[in-house]
Amino acid sequence: MTKLVFGNQKMYINKEEVLGIVEMLKTIENRDNIVMFPSYPFLEYYKDVVRFGSQDVSAYLKGAYTGEVSVSQIKSLGASCSIVGHSECRKNHNETIETLRNKITLLLENDITPVFCIGESLEEYEKNTTLEVIYNQISSVFDGLNNLDNVIIAYEPVWAIGTGKTPTNEEIDSTIGNIKNYVKDKYGVNDIVLYGGSVSPKNIEELNKIDNVDGYLIGGSSSIKDELKYIIEKCI
Ligand code: PGA
Repeated sequence: MTKLVFGNQKMYINKEEVLGIVEMLKTIENRDNIVMFPSYPFLEYYKDVVRFGSQDVSAYLKGAYTGEVSVSQIKSLGASCSIVGHSECRKNHNETIETLRNKITLLLENDITPVFCIGESLEEYEKNTTLEVIYNQISSVFDGLNNLDNVIIAYEPVWAIGTGKTPTNEEIDSTIGNIKNYVKDKYGVNDIVLYGGSVSPKNIEELNKIDNVDGYLIGGSSSIKDELKYIIEKCI
């Protein structure tokens, strides 16, 4: 059983630690299922080792956008993916639906795979509105877009990110199964769907039992060399 391992290193580590992780990855024989998302300055360190991408991307193609990084810039470094709509970006950068749509459109036009993040808040989970919330997150961005079969979806309950909490296996299986049916029925696509939120060496074997999960978007543990190695070995 192979699961995809996507490592979102957020703003956790510096050059030396990134290089340590790169060296660890080189010791793994089959690296086809690994994609790393470091901070922008470290993107190229993963070149020729594993596939890599950015944690976010500009909604504009080129121009006077101080501090932003464009699709063509990440592409020129060899990136093949970009995360879009991570809950931290949605919140910290006040991302609008229009922004997310622009980012996904630019990525698809440039043959870069968007890893589109969706997920409910704790309040929405407790009110039992998870599916309603995530269907709305998907349709508000996907309606009217093309080539959606090149999008990867990451289901990340906001309340599970960085908290050590996760939904039960049954809940993850059912939610991801519903996401797959929704995008198949509505857009005719078979998207890959990842689970993200507190994936760690402690729960990876349990999570691996969920058939509907194609892989993981891993935050904290992807910046800790030994934890990442352990997870990868369980997912090969
Ligand atoms: P976490 O983060 O694994 O630290 O919970 C996941 C993510 O934000 O992608």
